[in-house]
Amino acid sequence: MSRQGELDKLQQEALAAIEQAADERALDEVRVRFLGKKGLLTQQMKGLGQLAPEQRKEMGQALNVAKQTLQQAIEARRAELQRAALEKKLAEERIDVTLPARPEAQGVVHPVSHVWEEVVEIFADLGFSVAEGPHIETDWYNFEALNIPPEHPARQEHDTFYFHPREDGERKVLRTHTSPVQIHTMETQAPPIRIIAPGRTFRCDSDQTHTPMFHQVEALVIDRDIHMGHLKWTLEEFCKAFFETDTVQMRFRASHFPFTEPSMEVDINCTWEGGQVKVGEGDDWLEILGSGMVHPNVLKAGGLNPDEWQGYAFGIGIDRLAMLKYGIPDLRAFFESDLRWLRHYGFAALQVPTLSGGLSA
Ligand code: PHE
Repeated sequence: MSRQGELDKLQQEALAAIEQAADERALDEVRVRFLGKKGLLTQQMKGLGQLAPEQRKEMGQALNVAKQTLQQAIEARRAELQRAALEKKLAEERIDVTLPARPEAQGVVHPVSHVWEEVVEIFADLGFSVAEGPHIETDWYNFEALNIPPEHPARQEHDTFYFHPREDGERKVLRTHTSPVQIHTMETQAPPIRIIAPGRTFRCDSDQTHTPMFHQVEALVIDRDIHMGHLKWTLEEFCKAFFETDTVQMRFRASHFPFTEPSMEVDINCTWEGGQVKVGEGDDWLEILGSGMVHPNVLKAGGLNPDEWQGYAFGIGIDRLAMLKYGIPDLRAFFESDLRWLRHYGFAALQVPTLSGGLSA
């Protein structure tokens, strides 16, 4: 076979191999086999020197053409392979955005948030709206307006976090209860008033049932003829709805708060079996809230005439409610951000409590 014939054959062989290369790696092997340092075509180029000058010229040109042909074929095939690989990847990794969200959501709702929502849901159903107040309070809102003058012994019970005094002597506090929202509400809303105020509260105290930051929900109802019967009925309705049982019994115990007169603490019945508390059964009692008829001095501080308006108020510990309803033993764990704890006691995101659908379902 003539040299040209051999070259043609080699080129056919190379073009076929290029065409058959299934991926970039195979293609590269083909390139090395024909065009690499020791490649078949390269060897022929090296052999040119042994040819007669005329043949050398002719063969040299033919080899260069063959080399270019192969290089172009390789580049074309490479581009083709790359495009195919990309298309495959796109097809495989395609996301159908119309598919429903994956059920295994990562985040969970903290029990305090969940109980907060449950409480809001129950009172919203009873016609209450939600009010708010600042965490940093003046002495007036946290104490004085609530009938707690500076020398009052109740101040000691509050374990207050005080800020450094300002130049004018004023000393702000982190609110020790949600009751200051009573005053803010009386100042901004004309009666009749029917609000709840869930929120954070702060006291310098820490043990198994106390944390320096905790949550309360305040309730305030003011109208012309509000009496204790309204308070009692509302609390009964709340307890039945919250603990999801009709059998829960309540005990109203005479107590004392400076901002209510008369004042009652409310206990619910429960049993303690195996260290686990069950609400609505047995004849042990557990305190859950403080309440009473709004003191005339508090109405006055809020700008209302006590001869015209009267009302009731109560304050419930939200964290305490969560512990009772969901059998969570240690309050401190609520705020340690331990993921195992959160996954165990947390609620599915998007699981919004509703009275019709079940609060805790
Ligand atoms: N503020 C009281 C507390 O923190 C609770 C309370 C609120 C009592 C409203 C009576 C009326 O203990």
